[in-house]
Amino acid sequence: MSQQHVLRFPPGFLWGTASAAYQCEGGNTNNQWYRWEQEGHILSGDTCGQAADWWEHAEHDFLLAEQMENNALRLSLEWSRIEPVEGQWDSTALERYRAMLLDLRRLHLTPVVTLHHFTDPLWFTERGGFAHGENVRFFIRYVQHVVAALQDVNSFWITFNEPNVYAFQGYLMGVFPPGEKDLVRTFQVLRNLMQAHVEAFYAIRTIRPQAQIGYCLHYRLFDPANSLSLLDRSAASIQENMFTWSALQAGETGRFTFPAGRVLSPLVHAAGARDYHGVNYYTREIVSFDPRRPAEAFGRRFVRPGSVRNDDGLSDSFGEIYPWGLYRILKSVYQRTRGNKPLYITENGFSDRLDDRRPAALLAHLAVLQRAIQDGIPVRGYFHWTLVDNFEWNDGWYVRFGLIELDPVTQKRTPRRSASMFGEICQANAITEAIVERYAPELNNIIFGTTDALSRQIPV
Ligand code: BGC
Repeated sequence: MSQQHVLRFPPGFLWGTASAAYQCEGGNTNNQWYRWEQEGHILSGDTCGQAADWWEHAEHDFLLAEQMENNALRLSLEWSRIEPVEGQWDSTALERYRAMLLDLRRLHLTPVVTLHHFTDPLWFTERGGFAHGENVRFFIRYVQHVVAALQDVNSFWITFNEPNVYAFQGYLMGVFPPGEKDLVRTFQVLRNLMQAHVEAFYAIRTIRPQAQIGYCLHYRLFDPANSLSLLDRSAASIQENMFTWSALQAGETGRFTFPAGRVLSPLVHAAGARDYHGVNYYTREIVSFDPRRPAEAFGRRFVRPGSVRNDDGLSDSFGEIYPWGLYRILKSVYQRTRGNKPLYITENGFSDRLDDRRPAALLAHLAVLQRAIQDGIPVRGYFHWTLVDNFEWNDGWYVRFGLIELDPVTQKRTPRRSASMFGEICQANAITEAIVERYAPELNNIIFGTTDALSRQIPV
């Protein structure tokens, strides 16, 4: 009998899915995203409504995660439920979250809790939100309240999900609330979020010295359309720096890279303020020089022609499925941070309603991840976005990221093929040849081949 290939993950590796309160809970009517929805900005015309009904029945889905052999689960808390009115705390909301976290622990799923995933209470929005540095204190007060209340049932905290997406989508691209298009303000919001992270880190550390505390960024690659063109290269590199690396560098050293660093003062006490690096990775973009786009560093972004793609959103493309990008990002984060902390993939996923690309895409990303670990990059866990289909921000229900399909009207769940594949990988803590043969045999030679094979465009 021929030898079966296996790609093993380290013992104790965390396997889970990631989600966010507004996208899953339903009935959140007290934050700026609900207002945005009421104002008619959701491109599909959908409403979040009951979402995946987690406020009432998250436990049903936790059980599905356990049946999928996961050993961890990332969710977020909704600030507007916990502090619905400035300075007033709703203890029943905290009790509900405590019940969810206890249920996860009962199922042997390590909870990972995000304190802020894009939504702000309306009262905070009225005060100008994170555009005003003096408002950071409100966030810290909320963090102190929550961590003091839940520290006995959770010790793995993510302060902010993707400060770079919140700032750029809301203040430069104008597609998230508040819908502004102002570069300087974008930078200021990014700085305020990063400073808020630093202060939240120390606040949590004081309450719970043993806690794991970090933040996650959205890491996107921007590659020049023509690598021989100086103009394409500089537009791509400025965009990548602005969106991807500026926040990481500020988190490490306090200083933002050019151009944000030209207008922002350094963060205070940033160095050392995280226990791990949270990496959200989805895609890359191709950039060509375009003199008509000064606000975007003279770069036009597009999806690489001929690439395998995610399902498109209504206004935007969810881009190329580019597994090797995960390796490039992990290596770059590792090098830029001098390997000072472990890494977690806090999000990675695909919009693929029919699930006809996801199994191969997921396998390829996990094989690339395993290669990065083999090469010495200390990645300790992988959280797939997402468990069940959820409300995809301004795309509403139009695009589907779930391992499990959800009908938001009937609330019926139907596991996609990817769910069983992910379950098999989690159970084995490995990618086995049998799994590859079952779900994407065309990848066998590549996945179990050389780094060179893996780094070439993987046909998913
Ligand atoms: C966000 C999620 C979102 C996902 C897919 C991430 O940037 O954190 O909330 O659903 O991308 O677009």
